[in-house]
Amino acid sequence: MKLTMNLAQNSYDIILKRGALGNLRHLADLTHRKVMIVTDSGVPAQYALGVKAQCADGAVCTIPQGEGSKSVKGYTQVLQAMLDFGMDRSSLVIALGGGVVGDLAGFAAATYMRGIDFINCPTTTLSQIDSSIGGKTAIDLGDAKNIVGAFWQPKLVVIDPDTLDTLPRRHYVNGMAEAIKAGLICDAQLFQLFETGDIYADGEEIIYKSLLVKKHVVERDEKENGERKILNFGHTIGHGIEAVKGVKGRRTNGLYHGECVALGMLPMIQDRELAKRTRALYRKIGLPARCSYNKEKVLEYMKHDKKSAGDSITVVKVPGLGCWRMEKISLEKDLPALIGLGAKE
Ligand SMILES: NC(=O)c1ccc[n+]([C@@H]2O[C@H](COP(=O)([O-])OP(=O)(O)OC[C@H]3O[C@@H](n4cnc5c(N)ncnc54)[C@H](O)[C@@H]3O)[C@@H](O)[C@H]2O)c1
Ligand SMILES: [Zn+2]
Repeated sequence: MKLTMNLAQNSYDIILKRGALGNLRHLADLTHRKVMIVTDSGVPAQYALGVKAQCADGAVCTIPQGEGSKSVKGYTQVLQAMLDFGMDRSSLVIALGGGVVGDLAGFAAATYMRGIDFINCPTTTLSQIDSSIGGKTAIDLGDAKNIVGAFWQPKLVVIDPDTLDTLPRRHYVNGMAEAIKAGLICDAQLFQLFETGDIYADGEEIIYKSLLVKKHVVERDEKENGERKILNFGHTIGHGIEAVKGVKGRRTNGLYHGECVALGMLPMIQDRELAKRTRALYRKIGLPARCSYNKEKVLEYMKHDKKSAGDSITVVKVPGLGCWRMEKISLEKDLPALIGLGAKE
């Protein structure tokens, strides 16, 4: 399947096909330029080697797996590798991995020599469903997620669902949270597919439907001046939970991004029946439906979050399946109550 992200001069194709990675040389020019494949230590090495074998002059940069690499240190490592390899303005960066690799390699491509070509080959459900398209690239500064970054659209996105065969189950389920998000805000049928179907058997359809939602939103608002903010549904509280409970550094038993977003969506669903259905769905597929966390710490983080302006913050709420509304709420009065709803009493 092929989709096109229509963004005037920044338009690009999104290929969704089993085995597409082995066919990359027919989809992009890997012959007449230097190609740096950025991957991480958790992604099976055979994927990067398979892509490198298709390049006339390719190199692989492997960063340590985990969110910790989406940092100034990880960014420097990738840039240095690009410089050492002798890359110039005609060179190409290929991200081969999950959202961490995509966000980091994309940001490196966006800034190396003021911006060079970038192809995203996502290998996790989260990145195939969500993060590989849309052009948001970033690194973290301490607990401040995605605080340094750039809008830099890829030239091509190649999604090969075969790569998901090696993805650990918990990561597979984790990415599904972003698809449930897309269903809740924009696509009732996608949400129902989760209720009636199977996340493995219906994996490709879930990815496709989620990409369609994101494509349409991004096409209408590439730089997030308005409507694109709806894709942050669940992320305001989610990022707060992630700062406090997320997998990071020595906190290896923490929650993943999608799991935090799943929890962050629950208090924002205004229809009680729909919130109940969503919890049931989480239990069915293995996402956390409840979690105890330090509400004060989460609140503290959110007050310093870049999306809050003064004493208020704009959040996305879902009044009913497939609909959304934005609401400006007070940090002191409304937010604590919302967080209380999402936590175990
Ligand atoms: N740019 C965006 O629009 C956007 C949107 C959503 C999330 N994100 C970001 O994405 C990141 C999370 O992405 P993620 O969930 O993909 O995590 P990740 O990139 O850390 O990947 C998860 C783990 O799976 C391993 N892995 C990747 N592919 C594999 C494969 N095919 N087989 C076996 N193991 C594999 C990785 O080594 C890693 O350990 C966060 O930093 C989040 O902020 C960005
Ligand atoms: Zn997300």
